[in-house]
Amino acid sequence: MIKVNTNGCDSFVSKNQYNEFVAKAKDALAVLNAGTGAGNDFLGWNRLPSETPDSLVDECYDVVNKWIEKNIELVVVIGIGGSYLGAKCAIEALSHTFASQMNTCGPKVVFAGQNLSEEYTAELMDLVQTKNTACVVISKSGTTTEPAVAFRLIKSYIEKTYGKKEACERIVAITDKARGALKSLSNQEGYKTFVIEDNVGGRFSVLTPVGLLPIALAGFDIKALLAGAKEMEKICDKADDNNPAIQYAAMRNALYNNGKKIELLVGFNPKLQYIGEWWKQLYGESEGKDGKGIFPASVNFTTDLHSMGQYIQDGERTLFETVITVENSRRTVKIEADEQNLDGLNFLAGKNVEHCNRMAQLGTKLAHVDGGVPNMEVSIDHIDENYLGQLFYFFEKACGISAYILGVNPFNQPGVEAYKKNMFALLDKPGYEAQGVELRKRL
Ligand code: PA5
Repeated sequence: MIKVNTNGCDSFVSKNQYNEFVAKAKDALAVLNAGTGAGNDFLGWNRLPSETPDSLVDECYDVVNKWIEKNIELVVVIGIGGSYLGAKCAIEALSHTFASQMNTCGPKVVFAGQNLSEEYTAELMDLVQTKNTACVVISKSGTTTEPAVAFRLIKSYIEKTYGKKEACERIVAITDKARGALKSLSNQEGYKTFVIEDNVGGRFSVLTPVGLLPIALAGFDIKALLAGAKEMEKICDKADDNNPAIQYAAMRNALYNNGKKIELLVGFNPKLQYIGEWWKQLYGESEGKDGKGIFPASVNFTTDLHSMGQYIQDGERTLFETVITVENSRRTVKIEADEQNLDGLNFLAGKNVEHCNRMAQLGTKLAHVDGGVPNMEVSIDHIDENYLGQLFYFFEKACGISAYILGVNPFNQPGVEAYKKNMFALLDKPGYEAQGVELRKRL
């Protein structure tokens, strides 16, 4: 089970102050669970683990089995933001690091529509031509530009290559139950569709088909993922000092109150890199509003100790760290003794590489705390589907609690519209002509 250790914050937040924030977190949890807070029409995620029917999991595996039968080698998953990051982070965390260079069996999942880079798109089109390809297109609104552009290209390629009828067997859409261009297009073309419920926002949607289907297609156990999330749902519901979501939400808000405005999510395993990306979206979009909010950033140690380490140790003292500690590595590699010892490393002979990583982690914690950077740890035993499910639910619940302590609506994102309006105007989208003229004068 996930554990939160706040002892690296003891010299930055007094016991009394922490207890005050624990009380606030308990109040925020009650508001969240009662559905009486801001954005309460977007609380569907809160009960997803316990209320997701087995039939939905079976429906995901039906697609997986159908595409395995068709010998699909490549699945292009199209989506951006909350319609991308959950699946991407789970697949990165669970996959063999060198899966793309190895001949592992089953379809490979790649992502598209999460940027507007022409080179990325062209290279994706190079790839699809070499593989037996299928596509999952994900957009809740069904109108987001980035995935819509990617889907237009992939749809056209699949139709030209396999024929219009077969394209229906190779394209699955995940979208709103009634609204949006993707929904009407899917109805017209006859695609298999999964629904994203109205009451689940994008960044809270990893435990819906948005995350579940791509993760299952990549070969991972979504039942175990949901089971882990369900265990966490129970634990995180308790108005109790040992509830890890309360502990984390309380401490990060106490630190923010004391001037620590930037939170670094730290991993000591490259598999966790995209958890950082998913978490940044979850916390950044949920809390960064009304002139408030902890700025979420992420680093990957020990790699980034050789780049960002200097700033973290010695730069402006507005940072705190939340480290995802993985207690046990699932693989072992021992460092051998060397008779000549020319590299002077024999003091490590017989030790596991992970032992060195662990000592680096502990040494870094003490150094950063001494340098004025509070340190919290969120620990899991190892990386697998169950623990990932736990992490997803834990961070979502703590995010809702945190945002309510901060006094913002965690479930809207009014700030992301500004760039879209300008982009539409500059792209001459019908209806935006006058804004286009005004914007061009400023460039
Ligand atoms: O969290 C969010 O709501 C956003 O990041 C959305 O997921 C993202 O903008 C994609 O939206 P859509 O799924 O409507 O294409």
